[in-house]
Amino acid sequence: MNIGMTLTKFLLEEQRRVPGSKGNFTAFFSDLVVAAKIISREVNRAGLIDILGAAGNQNVHGEEVQKLDEYANSMFIKTMEHGGHLSGMASEEIDEIIKVDPRYPRGKYLLLFDPLDGSSNIDVNISVGTIFSILKCNPECDLTEKDFLKAGVEQVCAGYILYSSSTMFVYTTGHGVHGFTLDPNVGEFLLSHENIRIPERGKIYSINEGNSRHWLPGTSLYIEKLKNDEKNYTARYVGSLVADFHRNLLKGGVFLYPADRKSINGKLRLLYEANPLSFIVEQAGGKASTGDKRILDIVPEKLHQRVPLIIGSKKDVEEAESFWQYREA
Ligand code: AHG
Ligand code: MN
Ligand code: MN
Repeated sequence: MNIGMTLTKFLLEEQRRVPGSKGNFTAFFSDLVVAAKIISREVNRAGLIDILGAAGNQNVHGEEVQKLDEYANSMFIKTMEHGGHLSGMASEEIDEIIKVDPRYPRGKYLLLFDPLDGSSNIDVNISVGTIFSILKCNPECDLTEKDFLKAGVEQVCAGYILYSSSTMFVYTTGHGVHGFTLDPNVGEFLLSHENIRIPERGKIYSINEGNSRHWLPGTSLYIEKLKNDEKNYTARYVGSLVADFHRNLLKGGVFLYPADRKSINGKLRLLYEANPLSFIVEQAGGKASTGDKRILDIVPEKLHQRVPLIIGSKKDVEEAESFWQYREA
């Protein structure tokens, strides 16, 4: 391990390898790191202050908004819009695109994010996270929703912050996946997981089995196959995508929130959850699919579009895909 390598230093070094780079991206990323530290602090003391529980309203997906969701959402927006690096943002919690306040200069990036993933776990002290995706845009043009509707292959960076026994920042800019752990005494994210590679095959499967009565036949057959496999698969499901994903990234395995009879498009959102994690998993040598299509090739039609997601170790995802032919009864 490279002791004392902070996230900001690491980025600077990455950037120096890009000829002609002016450091805009590094400065932008530093704002992101500040937002991550502030949200991490609030999550860690959530039980001590009046920030737990429901805010009393629903978000655009009809889900109950938790107070910490709202906090993380507005903290992200406030921290990021000043910098002059962004033209706009899109949040899982907000219906419309967010244009950067005209008081601030506009920049060439767009930030899309799930401010708090796994919100149903907040009140019970279980790992949650923030997921983000970064796209480029033309700062001269009038910004519309269309500027955000880009296939995942166009992301320039994606990452997540996992608030857990430690806080971790994991990201990719298309040159491998790197993980940093927040040292609370130093107040910095330090390099702890350089160039993460997901095992080609794992032994973990993660799916909400409570939905099994709605599953399409292919999903039932696949899960049955894993249960009877001599490799001794084990089930692990936190219910926070970011935590389930992180575990499988490090240990190998497959996470599924597939299309089923109740939700034909699955549950997870393409732009805030599936795309960023798919970029990361591919950079780590894994795979992400809807069952028959690569997630990163999907051209979104709507900002809050949902998508079926099968993500993780390459061979496991390929095996799950091979059951797609049995999707109809
Ligand atoms: P969010 O908290 O951002 O709304 O996301 C919740 C998601 C995801 O974190 C998790 O994998 C999934 O919902 C769990 O859903 P089920 O409770 O239906 O299994
Ligand atoms: Mn989420
Ligand atoms: Mn969320």
